[in-house]
Amino acid sequence: MEKTTSDTTLHYDTAAPKWRDKMRTLGYYDAYLRFLSAEQRAPEPKSRVVDIGAGTASFAEAWVAIHGPPSEMTLLEPSHVMVKQGQDALRARGVEPSIAQGMLGSVELKPADVALAAHVIEHCPDALNALEQIRDLLRPGGRLYLVVSKPHWCNAIIWLQWRHRTFRKEQILGLLEKAGFTCDREFSFPAGPPSRTSRGILAHRRV
Ligand SMILES: C[S@@+](CC[C@H](N)C(=O)[O-])C[C@H]1O[C@@H](n2cnc3c(N)ncnc32)[C@H](O)[C@@H]1O
Repeated sequence: MEKTTSDTTLHYDTAAPKWRDKMRTLGYYDAYLRFLSAEQRAPEPKSRVVDIGAGTASFAEAWVAIHGPPSEMTLLEPSHVMVKQGQDALRARGVEPSIAQGMLGSVELKPADVALAAHVIEHCPDALNALEQIRDLLRPGGRLYLVVSKPHWCNAIIWLQWRHRTFRKEQILGLLEKAGFTCDREFSFPAGPPSRTSRGILAHRRV
């Protein structure tokens, strides 16, 4: 049976206290660091960054670890319990994030230079629509660092708890193209659970 959106948020409220540690232990935080540093860009202190489906803000934290504090960091997240943990984690790094509590598509923000979205479109009822909503949060040329679940038996087990979707490579590349993104780079996580469950894609908004 599919979970409704509010079921999912309640489920994440419950998972929140252990989520950040779990992201560390399972290697997702390191995986995000590697993905964000793969291009060896110069630090981008002036960027406006939004972490979509931020959870406890592991992806945003990885951004700050690599680029330093951005001019603005927004955490878009429906679970107030998850996002409170994320806020605390970023404050510990000297960053005061703006909190946009709500679902993707339900909040309006200033156009971002960079969107981070890890393991979130898997939960959205229509993945193409979700990617279009992410595109609309970016300025033209703005970059999306997307991490999505891929078909693997590990995800079959995770699905029993989370009822999330997985995407084949051609499928997610096709959706990004349709949503108005150009894919710049695919990233394979080298080790541990992220290598089995997920793939990274760097794309930019075409217009
Ligand atoms: C698998 S967790 C990932 C959290 C974080 N990105 C990370 O990598 O640790 C998915 C997150 O997306 C949020 N979420 C689910 N549906 C969403 C939606 N429609 N819009 C925005 N966030 C959503 C959940 O509340 C949850 O915190």
